[in-house]
Amino acid sequence: MTQETILIAADHAGYELKKKLEAELKNLGFAVRDLGTNSAESTDYADYAHPLAKEVSEGKAKRGVLICGTGLGMSYVANRYANVRAAVSWSPEVAELARSHNDANVLVLPARFVTDDDAKKILRTWLETEFAGGRHERRVVKIENKNVSS
Ligand code: RB5
Repeated sequence: MTQETILIAADHAGYELKKKLEAELKNLGFAVRDLGTNSAESTDYADYAHPLAKEVSEGKAKRGVLICGTGLGMSYVANRYANVRAAVSWSPEVAELARSHNDANVLVLPARFVTDDDAKKILRTWLETEFAGGRHERRVVKIENKNVSS
């Protein structure tokens, strides 16, 4: 079976955690494509979120992981792209709901507010949890539709 490639990117605040999660992803049997940043030097989160979200939006990759200090800047950028559902997740429970209810295809981690161990648990939960579908399917479809009210 072909290995799924997970995209990953971070700004300087997420750089150290990115390295650890890349290793974790490889341990779990995934291929990883690292879109930067490549050092702890100060940089701008949007420069990394745009390319990753574009690939997910265009279906070139199924899933991606973004990391910055709070997770917020990365999520603001990623969620501007059609069909991208980027979920800032600070606990395994939030990651589980982001998958089962929201079909989140981008995991966003707040590096300054989670331990490395928490981040690995959040990542594993996000990878393993299936979308529940059903009523949640209807709600996810409505995310892309600005003209519905019911
Ligand atoms: C960088 O200092 C920080 O602002 C960034 O990582 C992120 O938290 C922005 O949302």
